[in-house]
Amino acid sequence: PSDLRTLLLDRIEDVPDYPKPGVVFKDITPLLADSGAFTALVDALAELAVRHGATKVAGLEARGFILAAPVAVKAGLGFVPVRKEGKLPGVCLAQSYELEYGNAVIEVKQDSFGAGDRVLVVDDVLATGGTAEASLALIRRTGAEVAGLAVLLELGFLGGRARLEESLGGASLDVLVTI
Ligand code: PRP
Ligand code: MG
Repeated sequence: PSDLRTLLLDRIEDVPDYPKPGVVFKDITPLLADSGAFTALVDALAELAVRHGATKVAGLEARGFILAAPVAVKAGLGFVPVRKEGKLPGVCLAQSYELEYGNAVIEVKQDSFGAGDRVLVVDDVLATGGTAEASLALIRRTGAEVAGLAVLLELGFLGGRARLEESLGGASLDVLVTI
């Protein structure tokens, strides 16, 4: 609903020239600090998890963790962290993706999911789509099915949605606020 969008958008702050000149950073910390807005956000994402028949909620380090963990609890599902390289013990699968400068690697424990698991991937922001794209590929490589990708904020002008079209396949893409 548009009132949810307004509630959320009003509490995302633009920070010009951060982390570098010319970039406008979208700061979600005012939203997180507002109990009503944070609760509404978690409830909306948890509803999506249930609607899409998810059996697990995966969060993308670091800001995705903040949202995905309470969403998993609210939806009555387990939480799985997708972490930056070298942070998880045991046997992991790794997926690299391109950043504006250089490369990044994300990992998930190989045994994170069981047969038949359907995963809702949660992150704060969809920008170029590189992070999300890598996470979908990584999760599928564990043998799990991707139920969907759900994000708080989409930066529409960066074209992430188009980039994700192929990797989403039949999985859903849900965005609460698009700018
Ligand atoms: C930010 C954001 C998303 C990603 C979106 O994470 O939290 O995960 O970038 O960008 P993309 O669509 O262009 O991939 P970042 O890698 O800055 O790290 P953080 O979550 O650990 O702060
Ligand atoms: Mg992130």
